[in-house]
Amino acid sequence: MGQIVVLEPHKDLSDLISINLNTYTGSEVIPRTLPAEVISILSILPDIELVVCREKIDGENIINQIAKYIKTHQLETQIIVLGEVPGFASEICVGIKNPHDIEKIVDAACKILGVNPDQVNRKIRPDFIPIPIDYFFNLETTCCDVYIKIKKSADENQFVKRIHNGDTFSRQAIKRYLEQGLKFFYIQKEYQDNFTNFLSDKLVAKLEDAIENEGINEQIEIISESFDIAIKEILNLGFTPATIQLTDGIISSMIKTIENTPEMSNLLHKVINSKSSYLYQHSHMVSIVASECLNYLGIKKKEQHEIMAYAAFFCDTSFVELPELAKITSYEQLENSKLNEQDWDLVFNHALEASVFITKNPSAPEGTDIVIKHHHGASNGKGFSVTNSADIPGLAKIFIVACEFVKEHLRYKETGAEPSPIISDLYSRYPDPEMVKAIKALENTLKKRKKK
Ligand SMILES: [Fe+2]
Repeated sequence: MGQIVVLEPHKDLSDLISINLNTYTGSEVIPRTLPAEVISILSILPDIELVVCREKIDGENIINQIAKYIKTHQLETQIIVLGEVPGFASEICVGIKNPHDIEKIVDAACKILGVNPDQVNRKIRPDFIPIPIDYFFNLETTCCDVYIKIKKSADENQFVKRIHNGDTFSRQAIKRYLEQGLKFFYIQKEYQDNFTNFLSDKLVAKLEDAIENEGINEQIEIISESFDIAIKEILNLGFTPATIQLTDGIISSMIKTIENTPEMSNLLHKVINSKSSYLYQHSHMVSIVASECLNYLGIKKKEQHEIMAYAAFFCDTSFVELPELAKITSYEQLENSKLNEQDWDLVFNHALEASVFITKNPSAPEGTDIVIKHHHGASNGKGFSVTNSADIPGLAKIFIVACEFVKEHLRYKETGAEPSPIISDLYSRYPDPEMVKAIKALENTLKKRKKK
């Protein structure tokens, strides 16, 4: 689903424009009232396809600021200007003089987004849907025709077929598109389910093959690429047979890397030094450390290890689009972060929301939601707590310890800062005897590795 930002200070008009754009283009509409908020959204979501805003608000020229930002940052975002189009930005702007002419605004948006204008009177979604180009890295062929979007004029896009159904292509060929600045391929909407199933089948087959036949670095590469695709697809589509199959394949592969690697530090080292995303590294490393602590405590049941892996995969999936927010692990950091209200709430509630979300996945072992809900110490899943650790269920205690250790390890690697005394910090933060056992398990696991 595409995204449109509407900058309009008058709430009634903003609502009217937003609801019509959402209804007739199928896009998610983000309403805002201040120009700075639009720039801020574009800085974190550079793939926003369209901004709708007035030329001026309270005598201040708004359009110049936004158009300048888009041009300077070479974004593909286009603008519908409610007023006069500035000359320097005519290639990215379409002007509509009357801000109350909703029909013209919708019509212009449909053209820019590639929605068929003949269907404007029905609730429709774009005929073509974007697929991030990196989804094709692990494919050699596709199950449908693949297009690229070309700007025909300031107010119209055209979709040109680049890969035919059944054609074969190399990873290098896809990389060349990426190097040329292409971010998305497009497929026809009716093939979305087919494509998602096809992609999931191929990735799961590749994961299984890598675990059987490839070295650990190649295994980490395919697991990390599949992880990044899976969390985006889960965000887009929720739990479907394809996303569940892919998630199960990734988690099973993560567990196998742990089972097949006798030395925990070696595997952590490989993961943290791989070219992969923060969320993937955090997830795989937490799974590794939690499993090692379970082993140290003599907990060998496969299901307990699976709970840790599923919890590690899903605990921070709220941050798919804003992975930096996953680095916030205390209330002080959250208060000092200067986040807007929406992002603040996202961080504050993410453990609770993820714990509810995971219950919709029938593959997740029972008890995963409990571990996720407690993963920042708060028993209601809201915020960050350093008290009442006696109330935290046993597996969640081990998981918290693993999360804290991994976060610190990743911070140290990223910033090159002094490593903090994480073990003594944990002892002082979580004094309850059961929690102390979990921390001791981690401490001894680390000592064991130093002795070798
Ligand atoms: Fe978290």
